[in-house]
Amino acid sequence: MPPEPKLGRVRLVGAGPGAADLLTVRALRAIEGAQALLYDALISDEVLALAPAHCLKIQTGKRAGRTSMAQSTINRLMLRLARRGLTVVRLKGGDPSIFGRVGEERAFLQSYGVEVDVVPGVTAACAAAAQFGFPLTHRGEARRLLISTATVASGAMLEEGWLAAADRQTTLALYMGRDQAGAVAQQLIGHGRAASTPAVAVENAGSPEARAIATTLEHLAGDLLAAQPSGPVVLLIGDVAARADLGSAEPVLQQLRKARR
Ligand SMILES: C[S@@+](CC[C@H](N)C(=O)[O-])C[C@H]1O[C@@H](n2cnc3c(N)ncnc32)[C@H](O)[C@@H]1O
Repeated sequence: MPPEPKLGRVRLVGAGPGAADLLTVRALRAIEGAQALLYDALISDEVLALAPAHCLKIQTGKRAGRTSMAQSTINRLMLRLARRGLTVVRLKGGDPSIFGRVGEERAFLQSYGVEVDVVPGVTAACAAAAQFGFPLTHRGEARRLLISTATVASGAMLEEGWLAAADRQTTLALYMGRDQAGAVAQQLIGHGRAASTPAVAVENAGSPEARAIATTLEHLAGDLLAAQPSGPVVLLIGDVAARADLGSAEPVLQQLRKARR
């Protein structure tokens, strides 16, 4: 019988918000060393181009109208590739530990004895705040950062759990919340957060196409509807959002655009 190939390994890697220069050096090295690359929908072409030409590239997320792969299929695929002895990179947008199913994937692979490591990435909220010139925490103004999603697996919104986010000293970073913005605002206001609380919705954070919509909690849903964002949106709600400098992103955007040319 031919000898079994040595078991490969899987690296769960954060690609950041899209721009290649927001990758960590460790993430870049992981991509350059990948023999198989499984990537999500939000991974930019610029980042994908960094993978070796001979690397097997498999798209797992929704892109250009295609449907997403089921999580169980992704798990089995990673296992199969690792069993072929390959170094597999599972590339995820932002940071893999934030709404990235990293816990499930790691547990699955480890249960089959596959070596797994996680490479962190710049999450959307941090990219958005940096690009538009405001902090997520601020002395005397925002002592806490709460990262939350509005939706659960079924796409519905949970009605409990909003009390902590209603505290004035909390900055709420809401992921996957575009369509639930009105319902979330209602919950927060109902739990005592001022309707006039500043909010910024940032679309395509970290990329030259980034757009920020500065508003308040009570107008968030209406302003989002009017802006019709088509890219991913992170909502940042709290007093720090009043510090957003929409003009400050311009030089960064110009640099990014130049780098793309
Ligand atoms: C499944 S979650 C993944 C989050 C990712 N792991 C991270 O750390 O940024 C997808 C959601 O993240 C947010 N998001 C991801 N990339 C973004 C970007 N470049 N700009 C704005 N929001 C983004 C959006 O709310 C999007 O619906």
